[in-house]
Amino acid sequence: MAVEKVTAFAPATVGNVGIGFDILGHTVRAVGDRVSARRSAEPGIRISGITGTSASLPLEAEKNTAGMALISMATALSLPFGVEIAIDKGIPLGSGLGGSAASAVAAVVAANALLDEPLSKIELLKFAMQGEAVASGSVHVDNIAPSLFGGLVLTVGIDHPRTKQIPVPPGIRCVLVHPHMFMSTREARRILRKTVDLSDVVWQTANLAGFLAGCYTNDLAMIRDAFEDVIIEPQRSQLIPGFKAVKQAAMSNGALGCSISGAGPTVFAWCEEAYANGIRIAMVEAFAEHDLASDYWVSAVDTEGARVVES
Ligand code: HSE
Repeated sequence: MAVEKVTAFAPATVGNVGIGFDILGHTVRAVGDRVSARRSAEPGIRISGITGTSASLPLEAEKNTAGMALISMATALSLPFGVEIAIDKGIPLGSGLGGSAASAVAAVVAANALLDEPLSKIELLKFAMQGEAVASGSVHVDNIAPSLFGGLVLTVGIDHPRTKQIPVPPGIRCVLVHPHMFMSTREARRILRKTVDLSDVVWQTANLAGFLAGCYTNDLAMIRDAFEDVIIEPQRSQLIPGFKAVKQAAMSNGALGCSISGAGPTVFAWCEEAYANGIRIAMVEAFAEHDLASDYWVSAVDTEGARVVES
């Protein structure tokens, strides 16, 4: 018998992870969005409600990240039935934690479970990407791919994306501090220069390669030395009050590296487990000194991506 109603959960993400602009991201345990989807006789995609946020998000499917992902899926598959969804936001809006991506991913994973012959996750990736584009104005995958697959994920290519889960050294924790301010992804992308100095490209390339090599070989010293984003972070950090002090607080308390999660304003730090609490306290205090209260999470780099949680 056909499944009539399904709920899927998709985790929040750090994407990009500093040095991998638009291509490298990882999941955050415990925080995420849920989407319930049910078959309807009426064709098309409808959004019955959005909970978990006081902000008004569009209920028109073509203007909503989850709705647009499903429009793209329904069109490509010529779905013989309509889909009605309800979105429950667990990820703060405009936080840099991949909220728009998570809604799009949860929507396609839930709708996929309604199909008589469900698709593979790699086939769902492109539909979710179309949803993310509604929110940020461009197609990028550094939030979508880890939210879908789980773990630290590198994506190569846009038209025919390939993804690779990168191993993370055991015991690594990610400290995330979200100051209470809203950051528009479109605006944080608009301010970026369109040209980059060759020397910065060389430095950034070396750092990305070094970071990945460090992850594959459990070389924490290499990860620490390679963590620096020399292209995007210097441009965006001016949008986050106190960023320099927060980063300094993380580094002086033992972080391996610290940068902006996605478009910000959440700031994240990687560290060994024993340092996580001290780093978290110091980062929150540094934001407080700039009159910003914060939420925070300490997360393992979870390897579990989006999944059906109720059907
Ligand atoms: N990689 C994107 C950015 C993530 O940093 O602009 C935000 O969607």
